[in-house]
Amino acid sequence: MIANREMKSLKEDCGNLYYEIMKVKTLEASHLKGGLKCLIILQVEERLPSKFTIFGGFCKPGATLKFNFDDDFLWGVSTSAHQIEGNNTNSDWWKFEAEGKIKNGDRSGKACNSSELYHQDIELAKALNVNAFRFSVEWAKVEPREGEFDQEVLHRYADEVIYMQKNGIEPMVTLHHFTNPLWIAEFGGWESKRTIAFFLRYVQMILDTIGSVKYFITINEPNVYALFGYLQGYWPPEIKNRKKMKKVLANMALAHSKVYDLIHSKIPDAKVSTAINTAIFRSKTSSPLDLIMTRIVNYQYNFSFLDSVFYGKTHSPVGKITLPGGIKLDFIGLNYYTRFLVGFGFTPKISFGDLPKTEMGYEIYPQGIKNIIEIVWKRYKIPIIITENGVADGEDKIRPEYIMKTLESLSIAVSEGVKLKGYFHWSLMDNFEWLDGFGPRFGLYHTDFRTFKRTLRKSGELYSKICSNQL
Ligand code: FCB
Repeated sequence: MIANREMKSLKEDCGNLYYEIMKVKTLEASHLKGGLKCLIILQVEERLPSKFTIFGGFCKPGATLKFNFDDDFLWGVSTSAHQIEGNNTNSDWWKFEAEGKIKNGDRSGKACNSSELYHQDIELAKALNVNAFRFSVEWAKVEPREGEFDQEVLHRYADEVIYMQKNGIEPMVTLHHFTNPLWIAEFGGWESKRTIAFFLRYVQMILDTIGSVKYFITINEPNVYALFGYLQGYWPPEIKNRKKMKKVLANMALAHSKVYDLIHSKIPDAKVSTAINTAIFRSKTSSPLDLIMTRIVNYQYNFSFLDSVFYGKTHSPVGKITLPGGIKLDFIGLNYYTRFLVGFGFTPKISFGDLPKTEMGYEIYPQGIKNIIEIVWKRYKIPIIITENGVADGEDKIRPEYIMKTLESLSIAVSEGVKLKGYFHWSLMDNFEWLDGFGPRFGLYHTDFRTFKRTLRKSGELYSKICSNQL
């Protein structure tokens, strides 16, 4: 048993930093004075800097333990329209799915049927004690044909916002999450500059109907959209052409900047960002060529888009385009899932390493998020919000630990000075996972895709405790 004196110094060393729930042990320590009744032990994590190698905490009976995030921290869940709503019949993805391009021949179909069940979804989010909900509005439904706006759909989104607010939940609205109306795709999609004007008109329509929203994500993961759709060609429009990818990124950077200004002209105190997909990139070996390649990949993937809209000047591989000056980010929305290894090649050789994997085949590397937010904070000095983070794990074996490790890593970064304003878990419930169809399950709730019943997972229970400060 650890002596009282040692525990005191542990407490001083570790303060409020916290622990991994899977390994918590509560020891009865009746000889302790000063009301301390139990010691909660202790995780050893070799990869962290040495001063944080041991985490400890103390509590009085019935006391609560917290991560050291701000009181107004946004605790959220994240979703996207195409993945949960169902019947996105006028979109490019609907067509792509009908062509049999998805794993096991899956099609989004009715997905989670959330266009009918959204009230229930918001209630499920509330049951998790979250105070924020990131969701997307679907352009292909709002404007199924050029210039034809569907009032019913617009009003449903307005109702979604109202219902969240009634339930004490801050909405964060994503305006573009991978999918496009088919008519946009057919005349050239994001390769064409005309799409920017159409996008602005659609956003204007959303702003006119959706009510008082404060948080906006303009475009979700432009880096992933451009890479998969225009360089690797896995996603619609299945193009493999670097020049076109650069053009798409340029048009998206300009669209982001213009939408940023448009939102602010209507809602001066709005908080607007893109949500960039970030990852840890590690060199496969210490050879100079691998190291250089890793630096290039890291910059191009994680930072080139953010640099472009931050400095008002495009950075390759974002193609050349004139951007309006000024910083077009009020916070930095970051999505983080995993780590990659990089080797040199004419096209970089990117693979996963040897760590255990999730259902998506991603390496389980939650602690990488600390490194990402530290670098992003140092670079831009703008508050950060984690707009997505999660794990494909139908059996819910990995997720509880993954959540705790992630939050612990974020907590340490915050204690070292990073300004982090929120964390949105991907996802509220299992949903349609793009090319992988209904296989990978990311939900805090399990979804039965036949009956649309949602069932809380253990990790959901854990998250609800975290969000209500019971952990
Ligand atoms: C992100 C996407 C999101 C979801 C998660 C698992 O890259 O933004 O829609 O598919 O991955």
